[in-house]
Amino acid sequence: MKILITAGPTRESIDPVRYLTNRSSGKMGYAFAAAAAKRGHSVLLISGPTSIEIPEGVDFIPIENAAEMYQAVASQISRHDIAIFAAAVADYTPSKIAEQKIKKAENEITLTLKQTKDILGSARDIMGFKGTLVGFAAETENLLENARAKCLKKRCDLIIANDISRSDIGFDSPENEVTLVYPDNSKTLPQESKEHLAFHLIEIIEDL
Ligand code: CTP
Repeated sequence: MKILITAGPTRESIDPVRYLTNRSSGKMGYAFAAAAAKRGHSVLLISGPTSIEIPEGVDFIPIENAAEMYQAVASQISRHDIAIFAAAVADYTPSKIAEQKIKKAENEITLTLKQTKDILGSARDIMGFKGTLVGFAAETENLLENARAKCLKKRCDLIIANDISRSDIGFDSPENEVTLVYPDNSKTLPQESKEHLAFHLIEIIEDL
């Protein structure tokens, strides 16, 4: 099958030397790409900046910010059977990028942000994707309720939900414990390394 995977953080420029980003390492998305390629799938990885090597046999499109990731996904998704959105895309980006480096003058300055486009939320209605759609939900509270709401709203077949209030799993950690949230039921998997988890999850997604 042909699988598109988004991974990593995005970087939203403030001025020529500064940006807003988040703590995503890209490990989970890259582990998915490696596992899917090892299982014989054709894989396209669209990723923000990480320090991880591109897995062998995987096609790669590097992007920097949320708008670039949106464009890359929009132009590629229709060629795929499965899309897995593991990227930690910025929800907000600076309303204006300063052309010159912002100089230190005032004691306090205000940065105005505007919403980015929801890539996962656009996959069905705007991009017309008909294949199997898998999203992630990073939550600090009400994991099940929030993930179920995301699953229905973004018309996903599966949401892989992470409890990011726990420091032993998730962001930047080698291990993860996830809850699979389907439109009508859910299941928590045991904690394991992101590599093992990726293999296990790819098998589950193939069956969908
Ligand atoms: N996502 C996306 N494009 C965005 C924001 C998020 O594709 N601009 C995707 C992520 O890759 C992930 C899913 O949406 O698969 C959920 O991300 P999350 O940040 O948990 O949810 P949001 O929809 O942004 O909701 P909130 O931040 O309000 O919890």
